[in-house]
Amino acid sequence: MDRWKTIIEPHRIKSVEPIRMTTVEERDGYLRESGYNLFNLHAADVLIDLLTDSGTGAMSAEQWAGIQRGDESYAGSPSWYRFLESVRELFPFKHVMPTHQGRAAERILFSVVGGPGRVVPSNTHFDTTRANVEFTGAQALDLVIEAGRHPSEIHPFKGNMDTDALEAAIRRHGAANVPLVMVTVTNNSGGGQPVSLANLRAVREVCDRHAIPLFLDACRFAENAWFIKQREDGYADASIGDIVREMAALADGMTMSAKKDGIANIGGWLAMNDDVWAEQARNLEILTEGFPTYGGLAGRDLEAIAQGLREVVEEDYLRYRIRSTAYLGEALVEVGIPCVQPIGGHAVYVDAGALLPQIPPLQYPGQSLAVALYREGGIRGCEIGSVMFGQHADGLETPAAMELVRLAIPRRVYTQSHVDYVIEVARWVAERAGDLRGYRIVEQPPQLRHFTARFEPIGEA
Ligand code: F0G
Repeated sequence: MDRWKTIIEPHRIKSVEPIRMTTVEERDGYLRESGYNLFNLHAADVLIDLLTDSGTGAMSAEQWAGIQRGDESYAGSPSWYRFLESVRELFPFKHVMPTHQGRAAERILFSVVGGPGRVVPSNTHFDTTRANVEFTGAQALDLVIEAGRHPSEIHPFKGNMDTDALEAAIRRHGAANVPLVMVTVTNNSGGGQPVSLANLRAVREVCDRHAIPLFLDACRFAENAWFIKQREDGYADASIGDIVREMAALADGMTMSAKKDGIANIGGWLAMNDDVWAEQARNLEILTEGFPTYGGLAGRDLEAIAQGLREVVEEDYLRYRIRSTAYLGEALVEVGIPCVQPIGGHAVYVDAGALLPQIPPLQYPGQSLAVALYREGGIRGCEIGSVMFGQHADGLETPAAMELVRLAIPRRVYTQSHVDYVIEVARWVAERAGDLRGYRIVEQPPQLRHFTARFEPIGEA
């Protein structure tokens, strides 16, 4: 295979979903109706949907076969046992609790271990993780290494945690107030950047010194393992499964959204070794998710995840997956569009602040670029900048650290020609970047405004 430069999609297409073609004029109308907020669009009016890689993957024939096989028994379904076996094959934790998605696992975990006065360090908490920590009154700390804070800096494991900062934080807050340390693999909020096994081991050592458990937010564990195989000394010949098991062996538990590297449309789980925490977590699970052998999922969902976990660690899949994300990122950089470097696993993060210097942060360059990509080409990305992070509880607004647009790649959904089209549209927009204007918010809720705010272009009546 190494003779050929082109890395082909390691699957062929058996079932297709038509994309409804739209014109610039039509999309302009949809934008006005939606208040220039891409979350308000009808998905049927989107040509290439790069809003998220979560729950948007294409399932395999074997997964659909599993769906048919799904057993809907309330307790002890065979589908549950197939799910459990598949999870434990990679993550051999003692207790595994299925949940309807990742944030449900987070809510249960932090209801057990959080609370006022508690502090939960991470490389970078994903928004829902942070929100679930803070909801209990605890504090969420982001301690990614310095390189992880600089978009153009090249580092092989930019998701790594700063272990000196971790040590200092534990001493400052007192080990008794740190119920666990969390490491997000890959680091979504930092650009889909991987964490090395050496770093996980170093974090583990700090945790051991203070008798603090280590948990993984393992949403994109297989993509992280692929980067370890490619970039970390000593792992070139290791299987992805072995690398994942090594990651798992360094941890005491995990939260998981199966909507990412479970290649399922819904689902997740919480897993851990501690019996006392597990008992409390199971009681909470029953309260809102369901009986612990289905946890808010249908038996058929458990089957889809069980099979998805087998497919996501296949090397042909991961080679194609990571290469196709890099293909998009490298092509954008080549046509002069600045992106977070190096290109991460599941998404390309365009630096809209650098591309649109004429638009001040509080006129939302990321929103402007995201709207332009939709108007010109029907491509839906997601602003990750001052719209998402600029609003504060006290009513003040401040610029976010970066003004990005995330183009997240659903798993196995789009072909190279779809991606070539995205590159062409982005290039056209970037060549006219000087014409783009900012936006003002005309309506917004008191929090999480990016989902529902309405905008108006500045300079239009
Ligand atoms: N942790 C990480 C790192 C995530 O990226 C997500 C979801 C979650 C936890 C929560 O999982 O959605 O199943 O409740 N990320 C999606 C995204 C929403 O678009 O990046 P969930």
